[in-house]
Amino acid sequence: MAAQDTYNYKVVRQFAVMTVIWGIVGMLVGVLIAAQMAWPALNFDIPWLTFSRLRPLHTNAVVFAFGGSALFATSYYVVQRTCHVRLFSDGLAAFTFWGWQLVIVSAAITLPLGITTTKEYAELEWPIDILITLVWVAYAVVFFGTLAKRKVSHIYVANWFYGAFILTIAVLHVFNSAALPVSFFKSYSAYAGVQDAMVQWWYGHNAVGFFLTAGFLGIMYYFIPKQAERPVYSYRLSVVHFWALAFTYIWAGPHHLHYTALPDWTQSVGMVFSLILLAPSWGGMINGIMTLSGAWQKLRTDPILKFLIVSVSFYGMSTFEGPMMSIKTVNALSHYTDWTIGHVHSGALGWVGMISIGAMYFLIPRLFGRAIYSVKLIETHFWIATIGIVLYISAMWIAGVMQGLMWRAVNADGTLTYSFVESVQAMHPFYIVRTLGGLFFLTGMLLMAYNLWKTIAGAKPVEAAIPAPAAAH
Ligand code: HEM
Ligand code: HEM
Repeated sequence: MAAQDTYNYKVVRQFAVMTVIWGIVGMLVGVLIAAQMAWPALNFDIPWLTFSRLRPLHTNAVVFAFGGSALFATSYYVVQRTCHVRLFSDGLAAFTFWGWQLVIVSAAITLPLGITTTKEYAELEWPIDILITLVWVAYAVVFFGTLAKRKVSHIYVANWFYGAFILTIAVLHVFNSAALPVSFFKSYSAYAGVQDAMVQWWYGHNAVGFFLTAGFLGIMYYFIPKQAERPVYSYRLSVVHFWALAFTYIWAGPHHLHYTALPDWTQSVGMVFSLILLAPSWGGMINGIMTLSGAWQKLRTDPILKFLIVSVSFYGMSTFEGPMMSIKTVNALSHYTDWTIGHVHSGALGWVGMISIGAMYFLIPRLFGRAIYSVKLIETHFWIATIGIVLYISAMWIAGVMQGLMWRAVNADGTLTYSFVESVQAMHPFYIVRTLGGLFFLTGMLLMAYNLWKTIAGAKPVEAAIPAPAAAH
């Protein structure tokens, strides 16, 4: 029987297509808010278009809609291919697709209206939180149910990462969202004061660790070996990587709360665990990149591999930068500045964005049984995206360090050298460069949509595709 019939590809196709669509929507909002920081008049004095309302819309759209769809699509594909069985339940899988879309649409309506819990990355109000919980439980049942009925005894390492991502996000979401509703659109957190901050950043940091990292490492461990047609560099290292990462991440959250009312020792624990985190992160990066041993020449000709490998390099870069920023004295400079934003986007665009794009170029032609319309366009996309990221993050690094230094500069008599407004003025050119970088990245996404649209709509014979990796794992 053909793979198309054996496996449930329908839900994978749906999530894969939505990854591209939500990517464009989320990044379009990103470009708009980036432009608003350079030219504030772009909010047109309309409340729904103010920066404060569009910013959470951007983060929710790129992290949960774009990133989330990429994770659903790839995890459903990988778990079926590596377990040699169809998804546990087609009905529940369809529920996760439509339920997740409903969550996203609800976010897109409520956030611009100013309906928010104000907890970062968990802004959605309680009725939507309940829907998320239902979808997530269904996701867990489908994923672990499929693992349980697998036909191969071994559980491939990518599934371990996906599994940890699904379980941890469930726990984080339920605890952090605990709240007392006072109306249909308003609730108050179950926690108060510094406990609220602690729970929020235990959630926030592990959303980075398990949503934006563990799940995407699952993508790395499946799609790089497939595209490179090489086995994972070290399977043993991948297992050590998994346990070390899962254990260490969970303690590092307090680095988001340095110099706050949080007890000092808790901040130090967060810092120490963040420094330790460099080791498993780099172990994983080395494992991903070294998978190319003996096949380096493929990087010259295969733009999908370029996306995948460059993403892992950005992963290495942001997981070096993160531990450095968690050192209290460094954080004293970087916190509140655009340096954080630069760090975020070297992870978000460089790692999460590039690996998702690479995986979609791999998946979509296969899912639709078509050859890719244009490999050249993928190559162009790769370069536009890379230039976009470099513009974005270098502008933010310079802006961030400059802000930090301007804010702390004092004259001999102890007065501040610069007023706050002077530091805002100094940012103007960098905000323009950042907008330009975002526009580059967004243009790449539009090229991708065009290329994939032509791929799906076209009838180019499958044999003309870029050499497909050998049979499934
Ligand atoms: C075209 C691409 C993008 C542009 C132009 C863009 C722009 C922006 C801007 C202007 C902000 C607000 C910064 C501030 O408050 O000072 C922001 C925040 C953020 N963006 Fe993006 N973004 C893009 C893509 C992405 C992607 C793909 C992701 C994730 C996968 C992402 C994740 C985030 C996060 C997590 C924040 C909040 C950062 C924080 O609170 O420290 N962005 N983005
Ligand atoms: C070893 C790994 C990492 C460590 C130790 C780390 C550490 C840090 C630190 C110290 C901050 C600044 C906190 C502050 O001053 O407020 C930060 C912010 C952030 N990092 Fe990382 N980072 C790591 C990897 C990553 C990766 C790979 C991503 C994205 C995929 C990422 C996304 C973020 C986001 C979104 C924020 C901003 C949170 C906010 O304030 O809204 N980090 N990280």
